[in-house]
Amino acid sequence: MPIVTIVDFMGDVQKEITVEKGTKLLKALIDNETDVVHTCGGRAKCTTCRVTIHKGVPTRKTQRQHDLFEKLIKSGQPQFDHPAVFLSCQVIVEDDMTVSVSETFNSVIHDSRGKDTPDEITPDPEWLDHEVPDWWGIKD
Ligand code: FES
Repeated sequence: MPIVTIVDFMGDVQKEITVEKGTKLLKALIDNETDVVHTCGGRAKCTTCRVTIHKGVPTRKTQRQHDLFEKLIKSGQPQFDHPAVFLSCQVIVEDDMTVSVSETFNSVIHDSRGKDTPDEITPDPEWLDHEVPDWWGIKD
C-alpha cells in the first residue's frame, strides 16, 4: 500500500501514514488525524485543503481544480500557479507521496476544521493530464 509522508515546510517528517491505493488524499489525511483545514468538506470550493506535493506528484488533475486555480491566478493569487500545489480533496493516492499541508487548524484562524468529506472526489472528476517538471522535488 502507498505511504504518504507528511512533512513541514522545512522538509522535516511529521508522520507517515499507510493508505489504501485509490483513497482520496484529504480522506486519508483526516482519517489519520492530520491537522488539515477542509472548510468546504472536499468540494473543491475553498482551497483550504491544499497541499504541496514534494514527491509523487500526480500526473493528472481534476478539471474542477484546474478551473478553480485558473480563476484564482487571474484574480492575482500566483501561489496557485505551481505544478506541485493540489487540493487534497481532488487527489487520489496511487503511489508513495510526500506532502506538506498549507493550512492547519493550529496555524490559521478558522472557526472549525471543516465539514465531513465524502469518500469519493466531489464533484465527479473529469481528469486532465498534469505535467510535472524535472526540477521539482525534495532531494534525498
Ligand atoms: S477545496 Fe475545500 S476542502 Fe478541498
